[in-house]
Amino acid sequence: MQESLRQRIAVVGCGYWGAKHVRVLRQLPEVGEIIAVDSDLERCNVLVDSFPHVGATSSFEDALDEVDGVVVATPPTSHAKLALRAMEAGKHVLVEKPLTVHADEALQLMEAADESGVTLMVGHTFEYNAAVRYLRDFIAAGEMGRVFYIDSARLNLGMYRSDVNVLWDLAPHDISIANYLLGRAPSAVQAWGGRHAHHALEDVAYMRLIYDDLDVTANIRVSWLDPCKVRRMTVVGSTRMAVYDDLASEERVRVYDKGVTATENGLGVPMSYRYGGISSPYIEFEEPLLVQNRHFLECMTTGTSPLSGADDGLAVVRVLEAAQHSLTTGQTAEVNDAA
Ligand SMILES: NC(=O)c1ccc[n+]([C@@H]2O[C@H](COP(=O)([O-])OP(=O)(O)OC[C@H]3O[C@@H](n4cnc5c(N)ncnc54)[C@H](O)[C@@H]3O)[C@@H](O)[C@H]2O)c1
Repeated sequence: MQESLRQRIAVVGCGYWGAKHVRVLRQLPEVGEIIAVDSDLERCNVLVDSFPHVGATSSFEDALDEVDGVVVATPPTSHAKLALRAMEAGKHVLVEKPLTVHADEALQLMEAADESGVTLMVGHTFEYNAAVRYLRDFIAAGEMGRVFYIDSARLNLGMYRSDVNVLWDLAPHDISIANYLLGRAPSAVQAWGGRHAHHALEDVAYMRLIYDDLDVTANIRVSWLDPCKVRRMTVVGSTRMAVYDDLASEERVRVYDKGVTATENGLGVPMSYRYGGISSPYIEFEEPLLVQNRHFLECMTTGTSPLSGADDGLAVVRVLEAAQHSLTTGQTAEVNDAA
């Protein structure tokens, strides 16, 4: 590709996840120059050693002069300020999840993107995951019957963050997947959790997302304090059930031809059980972060609205705000969708 047509990208925040952004951006022919930006220059230098031809600076302002787009991969509480500054400078922006830590900030970013006419996208990586896309199409085609409920577990030992609790760190993934599978956001949320090894931040949390109009609930468990790494989602439908295990090297999605039917005695019991086969579809897999970042570049160039746009990011932030409220008050919280 002609150098002049290539996009120049700054990755701001070169820690665990920013380093992965740099790695995948280097694989994309649409990308020209990459600048690694981190307030800790040592972090950038580690990347420059691994990836020659990547530039490095600790000055976000200097980098802004040199690029067309910015990936914000800093801690969540800093997302809004950096994304806003980048858009003020006329740059396209991909912000890591969660888009912001307040709905007001997300709305401010959306306004800024409109005013500057730039792409604003959120890194809901799982919406670019072939297994999740398969599940969504499977549900939409009616193959599972009516979805009864979703159950999701995202557990591991660490990594503890210092600016947000485990809900804001891990649950954005489960919420964005549930919204994506069901095609809408929940109307209410219940959440509870505990601070165990950390004095100020919840390190274990449970949420129930209530999709009132669908009569579906999504139950989510997230933990930084579990001996086993688990990334598993179960979707239970009236005719089939499916398990998506993101850690499985093969058979990432398994479909269980199982179900129950209430017998017609007026009491609903005893239930009749149907035990069928288990199948696993072949799913062509490409690294979701690569798919996501390629999509960002396409949106930057063509002006197409991103699949995971700022409205998606805002929807997840609103659920998290409601969950945080529920966690504090012990009450069910409505998800505020006022503009
Ligand atoms: N999509 C995913 O699957 C996924 C996975 C992991 C993390 N993330 C997200 O990526 C972001 C970064 O997470 P991480 O685990 O890499 O964190 P990290 O702590 O490993 O790295 C953050 C980096 O940002 C730098 N930084 C902080 N403030 C800065 C500023 N104002 N300007 C420049 N640099 C700054 C820090 O020095 C650090 O190097 C978070 O928003 C997190 O939620 C997304």
